[in-house]
Amino acid sequence: MNNSIVIKFGGTSVSSLEKWLVISDTIKKHVETGFRVFFVHSAANGITDRLQILLKHKQDQIIEEIKHILQQLATDLNVSTDILNTEFEKLDNLLQLPQPSLHQQAEILAWGEVATHQLGLAFLQQSIPVTSLDPKHILISSAHDNRNNSSRVLSAKCDVTKNQTLIDSFDQSVYSMPGFVASDPQQNTVVLGRSGSDTSAAYLAVLVNAERLEIWTDVHGIFSANPHAIPTARLLETIGYQEAREIAASGGKVLHPRSILPVEQNNIPLHIKYTQQPDAAGTVLGHQYSSTAPRVRAISTRHNITLISMESMSMWHQAGFLGSVFDIYKQLGFSVDLISTAQTNVTVSLDTADNIIEENSFNTLVEHLSRVCQVEVFKNCSAVTLVGYRIRALADKIAPVISSFADQRIYMITQSSKDLNQTIVVDQDQADKLTRALHDVLITQAYQPEDFGPTWQELVKGNSPQPQFTPPWWQSHRMQLLKLSEQKTPCYVYHMDTIQQQIDHLKSIRAVDKIHYACKANAHPDILRLIHANGLGLETVSPGEINRVMQAIPEIAPDEILFTPNFAPKQEYIDASRQGLNITIDNLFILQHWASDLADTEVILRLDPGHGSGHHRYVRTAGEHSKFGIHHSELEQAAMLCKQHNITVKGIHAHSGSGILNYENWQRIIQYLTDQLNVFPDAYIVNIGGGMGIRENPGDAGLNLQALDEMLLEFKQRHPHIHIWIEPGRYLVAHAGILMAKVTQTKWKNSKGYIGVETGMNSLIRPALYGAWHNIVNLSKFDQPNTCTASIVGPMCESGDILGVDREMPETQYGDVLMIANTGAYSASMASQYNLRQPATEIIF
Ligand code: LLP
Repeated sequence: MNNSIVIKFGGTSVSSLEKWLVISDTIKKHVETGFRVFFVHSAANGITDRLQILLKHKQDQIIEEIKHILQQLATDLNVSTDILNTEFEKLDNLLQLPQPSLHQQAEILAWGEVATHQLGLAFLQQSIPVTSLDPKHILISSAHDNRNNSSRVLSAKCDVTKNQTLIDSFDQSVYSMPGFVASDPQQNTVVLGRSGSDTSAAYLAVLVNAERLEIWTDVHGIFSANPHAIPTARLLETIGYQEAREIAASGGKVLHPRSILPVEQNNIPLHIKYTQQPDAAGTVLGHQYSSTAPRVRAISTRHNITLISMESMSMWHQAGFLGSVFDIYKQLGFSVDLISTAQTNVTVSLDTADNIIEENSFNTLVEHLSRVCQVEVFKNCSAVTLVGYRIRALADKIAPVISSFADQRIYMITQSSKDLNQTIVVDQDQADKLTRALHDVLITQAYQPEDFGPTWQELVKGNSPQPQFTPPWWQSHRMQLLKLSEQKTPCYVYHMDTIQQQIDHLKSIRAVDKIHYACKANAHPDILRLIHANGLGLETVSPGEINRVMQAIPEIAPDEILFTPNFAPKQEYIDASRQGLNITIDNLFILQHWASDLADTEVILRLDPGHGSGHHRYVRTAGEHSKFGIHHSELEQAAMLCKQHNITVKGIHAHSGSGILNYENWQRIIQYLTDQLNVFPDAYIVNIGGGMGIRENPGDAGLNLQALDEMLLEFKQRHPHIHIWIEPGRYLVAHAGILMAKVTQTKWKNSKGYIGVETGMNSLIRPALYGAWHNIVNLSKFDQPNTCTASIVGPMCESGDILGVDREMPETQYGDVLMIANTGAYSASMASQYNLRQPATEIIF
């Protein structure tokens, strides 16, 4: 038998009886077709993540969870749980080691695959004769690898070629092998890096000279972008190896980057198959699918990028500078990813998501580099990469999108010498926005059926648990709103049911002990009352806000109010303290100069977690460039001053910015704050701030509350005594508000159109201040087609008095009512009387 096939099933594809039935069916079908089948698999879902946690802190509960997952799987597969006893004993012994060496760490990480293997083998052997293969005898890591030790052991690479002796040794028709695991030439255990089972399968396909490699996953194939962020992403049904490699290396999650090159070099076709629809075509990789026409095939995003900027005058016209700098990276075993150079500056990126970067060795790197140049480090960046052929030829389409991002920081733009990719590095919270804008122009608008398959939306229609798009509240109340507009415009209208719904959403975050509404977003008394009636506290930042809250809700208990001012005068702290409010202190200065005024009280300290996030740089409220929070280097001193004055630090707080859509932001914050608890032993409250972003457009992915919930719950399980607080503003009220204004005049200048309305930046300053985008609709002509493009402007004497630039609108006339959406937050509360024009009136609906 010559024809071999390697099939690989990932974590979610080996975690239930249903999936194992697909595996045995697939094996049987391939055997019937005449193939010798090599089945490679990952660890059951959730095991390796937990093993990774155990490497850092040994926790009995996590060990129990691991055991429970596998015992449950054994029961589902109708396999005796006794099989697991030896494996459990092995794990317990490994976890006893006080300081496991790198190879022992590899053994701990590999344990999940090995244990899953025993179960799977027992299950398959009930219906198919399967022989087990030991990967440590088959995959031997390369002896020529000059990366650092941890990379060599925990993210090992193998050099493989077709192995005839090995091939000749096979006399059975089905073999099963755990992925991820290998050994070094001395037979010590190594692992191939996270998600390395793909690579195991690719290596095995080369060794046995397979006719085809099939990677079975829980997605349809490779898409033109992450479909969870961009539902209009299209399936790539065929793709050249080179493009697929670029996609995988630049953040595409379907294949592990290292798994493609071995099959590419040996011209083995790679098929990505969807476990839930075994007969669907998926994505096929092969040389024949490469094209040379200029096109972008995919846009990938990688988060957690660290940039190192190196500045030196001596670089200018000097030979050898770059050599000496890169020598430092080499000596310390850091692999550099992106590079951009200017006359006196070189900036490089390290991919912290894929590389194993230890804090200590990173600090050593920075220290060594600082001896030869000025070093600046930027963490939490994202790289957005366009992948395709001859991308430079598409510059006329790409440039306008990038230039519309000029307001945000673009750290670097690089392109590969082969013109196969172009990468733009931006702050992490801008990445999805940029990807969406690029995807719209380069893929959705340039769609060619021969390049792309169906969209993700089309593929999941009907069989997806995704909630259907629900139209915004104002759409179904259009006639009532038009009636209202006859009485008074311009006006903000607030829909209380939508606020209630948002409150309910936030309350579904199970681990949160107390929500405080940041009333700076909208301090309308009725809104404050509704929110408080739902059991939420209030967050205030000025005496004005405190008075508003107390007038609106006279019965409110003082400790339900947070007072979080910034650079406020001393008297405000003294007054708030006398009133019994929860005071948050965000500057060491206060403790250095006014601590005696706060003696014998309890306070919360606002810390600077070191990195800000948000929809615009003006709303990032942490990090070096922000005026908020106590710097890390001052924490010990703050603790000492509090102690001297008998001030009890009952909680610590951080708020990193506003309009944030990545739940990982709060993961970073909670981790940072918890790490500081040893400095503040009395603290039991961890306030992780607000900043929860909203869906601006119906097609936006929005904040994944469920992921936030799960992350916090997992945290709470580890720290059950900590009270978690949050203080959102926008999330509760933004969607609930609209602004209605009548058209005053229209104007055309050549091809440029302007539609003027009764109010502008005096009622809504966000577009002028942050370039914020608000949906604008002609309510009077709601069902009519868009026939013109115009900017919607207000009556103020400023060119920046624009509510929306170049919007597609229906034929719009004097007196029509325009509606500006998502103006429940930071609209009325930021309104002004500029030009002595009164802002819009507020109406409760
Ligand atoms: N906590 C603190 C300490 C804050 O400074 C803020 C907002 C919040 C909570 C609530 O953040 P939210 O959940 O609403 O994002 N004017 C800008 C937003 C500025 C937010 C300032 N601080 C805008 O219109 O986007």
